[in-house]
Amino acid sequence: MKNIYIIHNSLYGNSRILAERLARGLSEKFDVKIKRIGDFNLNNDTDNLYGLILTTRIMQFGVDREMKKFVEEIDTNRKEPIPKTIICYTHRLKPKRLFKKGMVKTIRNAKHIENVYPEVLEVKMKSMKGPAEEGQEQKIQDFINNIKVYLED
Ligand SMILES: Cc1cc2nc3c(=O)[nH]c(=O)nc-3n(C[C@H](O)[C@H](O)[C@H](O)COP(=O)(O)O)c2cc1C
Repeated sequence: MKNIYIIHNSLYGNSRILAERLARGLSEKFDVKIKRIGDFNLNNDTDNLYGLILTTRIMQFGVDREMKKFVEEIDTNRKEPIPKTIICYTHRLKPKRLFKKGMVKTIRNAKHIENVYPEVLEVKMKSMKGPAEEGQEQKIQDFINNIKVYLED
């Protein structure tokens, strides 16, 4: 089975819960592990890493700086390229242009990331601490179905 890592940096648990939801949806077909940023060692944890899924969040209208730094460090710490990367995030307010631009740009600039899934999953929360608003579950399920195909290729 292909190795997929889901990385989060969750404060209130929203993006961790999203990470767990994605893992449940993918675990039948892939070997999926969830890690918090600080617990993930890019050199040792990632032999045969096929897919990297970032479940991040909007902070002050932009990207989570720790997640941005994590992506930037992929280039300095990693020897093998990562074939496929997927971006997901939770947010409270209206999204998202600055966030999207910042995150996608950071990932596109990482030379060790080969391919980025073109769609970004946005999950809107009812409050800062969650839960997700109505309708998000169907959106997540549809996204899982799509990324299964993408990751199987
Ligand atoms: C300091 C701070 C700033 C935030 N700024 C924004 C923002 O600009 N736009 C937005 O949509 N949500 C914002 N949020 C809400 C978070 O994106 C939302 O609560 C997210 O789901 C948190 O994910 P987590 O529980 O995984 O950390 C902010 C939250 C905090 C704590």
